[in-house]
Amino acid sequence: MTKAFIFDLDGVIVDTAKFHFLAWKNLAEALDISFSEEENEQLKGVSRFNSLQKILEWGHKNISKEEFNRLMAKKNEEYLSFVDQMSKDDILPGVLETLNYLKENNYPIALGSASKNARRILNKLGLNSYFDHIVDGNEVSKAKPDPEVFLKGCKLLGVAPQQAIVFEDSQAGIKAANTAHMISVGIGDKSVLGEADFNFEGFSEINEKTLKTLINFKK
Ligand code: G6P
Ligand code: MG
Repeated sequence: MTKAFIFDLDGVIVDTAKFHFLAWKNLAEALDISFSEEENEQLKGVSRFNSLQKILEWGHKNISKEEFNRLMAKKNEEYLSFVDQMSKDDILPGVLETLNYLKENNYPIALGSASKNARRILNKLGLNSYFDHIVDGNEVSKAKPDPEVFLKGCKLLGVAPQQAIVFEDSQAGIKAANTAHMISVGIGDKSVLGEADFNFEGFSEINEKTLKTLINFKK
């Protein structure tokens, strides 16, 4: 059975999670809401809108729609000021090797990210040409853990969900892949991503042999 690959972006291809954290932390502190790495973990894979809603809930704050929109824009502005400093050097170790192997062997590849900034980030990293299709936060209405983003990716790649191998660093993303019966690969801490079919600390643990194991795996 032919396989196709879907990559999440933030925390999988590049460590933008630290920039999201910094920008949300600054915003939360300005509102007098405490915000730690633990809370940040719960925002991984979660859309910008839902992230701000959660932070406000944690701080028991009620704000107007206008203020909500202003804060989302402010957070994004700060986040992008960090993103715009990035270059090819920020691609996480082992990612390029994996992408090159998949490309050389003609596996279809898609991006499946909740981020509305995905295309801008791929451009900065010089990675656009690796992806046959990009599904980002501008194209989905239901955020992870809903599998919409990955199902759209499968449709564009022309494969059934069972043929898709999904790389994800968030609990919400692993849930989304599992719900749609895709092969889920957790990138990061196994104690957090234990529900995945496979777990790796990062792409430097993934080589040709590992990729073949993923390709031959039947769910
Ligand atoms: C990713 C990140 C989240 C982020 C979301 C939206 O899934 O893991 O932390 O909130 O994308 O990103 P955006 O760039 O559109 O604000
Ligand atoms: Mg992610």
